[in-house]
Parts: sequence; C-alpha cells; structure tokens
Amino acid sequence: MTITTCIFDAYGTLFDVAAAARSAADEPGYEALQTTWQKVASDWRLKQLQYTWLRAITKEHTDFWQVTQDGLDWALEASKLTEPKIRTRLLQLYWELAAYPEVPAMLQALKEKGLNTAILSNGEPKMLQAAIDSAGIGNVLDDCLSVEDVGIFKPDARVYELVLKRFSCQPDQVLFVSSNGWDAAGATGFGFQTVWVNRAQEPVDRLLHRPQHVLSDLTDIPTLTDP
Ligand code: LAC
Repeated sequence: MTITTCIFDAYGTLFDVAAAARSAADEPGYEALQTTWQKVASDWRLKQLQYTWLRAITKEHTDFWQVTQDGLDWALEASKLTEPKIRTRLLQLYWELAAYPEVPAMLQALKEKGLNTAILSNGEPKMLQAAIDSAGIGNVLDDCLSVEDVGIFKPDARVYELVLKRFSCQPDQVLFVSSNGWDAAGATGFGFQTVWVNRAQEPVDRLLHRPQHVLSDLTDIPTLTDP
C-alpha cells in the first residue's frame, strides 16, 4: 500500500533528549554535571519510560510531564546531585530540546511530496508545542497527536489508532518512525509500516514484532515513502 502519512515519535526521535543534561553541563554553576551528565541523561530517560509502561499496566495514568519529573528525581538521587537548581534547570531545558539537525529538511521534503506529517507522542500537549516551537518545525507538521487524548501511554493500541482517526487512513498507509525499539515494535504489531531509528547502533529489541526498516538517522525517510 502507498504511504500517505508519516508519523514521528517525538522524544529521542525528532528531539534529542540527552541535550538537556549535555547543555546544562556546559553552563556556569552546573559543574557537578560535567562528569555525571551522561549517566543522568540515561537514567532519566530509562526511568521516565519505565514509569510510562508501569502506569499503563497498572491503569494509573498521569501525564508525561509528571513521569518526566519523577524519572529525573530518581536519576539525580542516583548520582547524588541534591542541589535544587540542577533539577530546575534540567526541567527547564526539557521544554526547549534541540531537534536533530536533519529534521527540518526531512520534514520539508515530505511536505513537498504531498504527504501528511505529524507527531504521535506520549508527551503532554503543552510540552510538545514548546519543543515544536523551539525547534521551529511547526510549519512542516500537519498535527501533533498526544496520548492525553486517550489517557494511556504507548504502546497501547488506542494511541496508534489516533492516527487513523485523524488522517482517515488505513494502518498500512502509515510510515511510523521511532527511535524507541519498543515503540517501533508496538506500531508494527498495530499494522503500520515502521522505521526504527537506531542512532546508537543498539541490538534490536527481542519483541514479537520487528521494524520493517532500520536507519541510523532520519535523512532517508523521504526515500522510503516512494511507491
Ligand atoms: C514519545 C516518547 C516515547 O515521544 O519518546 O512518545
């Protein structure tokens, strides 16, 4: 089936989630992060994601801003970073994450080909809008869909269904792009065509469904939509 609609995960896929801890480490007053920022960034991300899965399994949904703060609190304690200003600064930077450098041109190319483009994210709508605005990509996205419309996190099928309702399309007309292996697997199981963006050259997740495509960054996404 011809692809009509390209859907992107947000955090880690379009926006660089490590950028908050990496840039804070370079700022005066945050020297404590210079030796720890990589561990903080990685613990923060892992805990944030674990909390989304656990809240979905236990049906105790809260929004992504809350699990982002909860994950950071775990990560800071694990690295013995107790200064409140570090927490405040990292959370502030999460609202203005950088997009990966190839993102604007890639989205522009998809729009020039006449494809629908949108984000589908665990993110809470205001967080997502702030990231879109700071990356300057609002003009090349048709929409930004959030799990808050269904009150459960990915990879619940109700989240992926938001795409079909919004764009009136069939699952196999959708190319779903995520840097999260478990998200790409969930989307493949749902019936989307999928791309796993594997920047860190990690092993593929041992889940029931495998992505159809694996790329090292987003540059070649427009080529994948050719009939
Ligand atoms: C998102 C998380 C999974 O944006 O990165 O949905």
